[in-house]
Amino acid sequence: MKIPEPYFGKLFKPFVFLLALLPGILLGWNAWQDNLGANPIETITHQTGDWTLRFLLITLSISTLRRWMGWGQLIRLRRMLGLYAFFYATLHLFTYLWLDQFFWWEEILADILKRPFITVGMLAFVLLIPLAVTSTNAMIRRLGKNWLKLHKLIYLIALLGVLHFWWLVKADVREPFIYMAILALLLGERIWHSWRFKRQFL
Ligand code: HEM
Repeated sequence: MKIPEPYFGKLFKPFVFLLALLPGILLGWNAWQDNLGANPIETITHQTGDWTLRFLLITLSISTLRRWMGWGQLIRLRRMLGLYAFFYATLHLFTYLWLDQFFWWEEILADILKRPFITVGMLAFVLLIPLAVTSTNAMIRRLGKNWLKLHKLIYLIALLGVLHFWWLVKADVREPFIYMAILALLLGERIWHSWRFKRQFL
């Protein structure tokens, strides 16, 4: 599969950019319209958390889709989608820091130490920062092979994200289970792919 070159860069990529921004725009619009239900802070926290996890998984699925669909161009969307995961994670974190905890740092620190799901979420966010910072072309060139090693952290981040979700739901784990199953499939496909690749050269 291939979209003719000028259309990919000039139309398809901007279209995906706007599509990925849509959840944020809708959230902002609904907040403006006072349409976020009885507990707006909870709604914002949940929606930004959901979109962070979705974009992490979407970013991870790019290589798999590229292999299975033979659609090489997809790789050119990966950085943008990864940065969207960081964008929604930042919104998610700031909703917690600002709207939930009012930047009450002692309370925030105590919460990070006390509630394991917050500890894990915070760890996932901290690990996302070096990936976002090193996403520029200059950084990719500068880091060389180490860039690939560093960006393997995305697997751990996605795993921590799922764990964070799993830990916070009280009883019904169906939703985090779906994310976990998708992550397991994506990781399984990668392991299988690299095993097949190595076997070819033995
Ligand atoms: C990569 C990082 C993160 C991911 C992928 C993530 C993902 C999620 C998801 C999927 C939810 C549940 C949404 C739902 O119920 O529909 C959630 C909820 C939540 N997250 Fe995160 N999160 C991350 C980081 C953080 C951080 C850094 C904090 C705060 C320090 C945080 C605080 C919360 C809170 C307070 C909730 C709501 C808990 C509740 O409903 O009781 N998250 N997050």
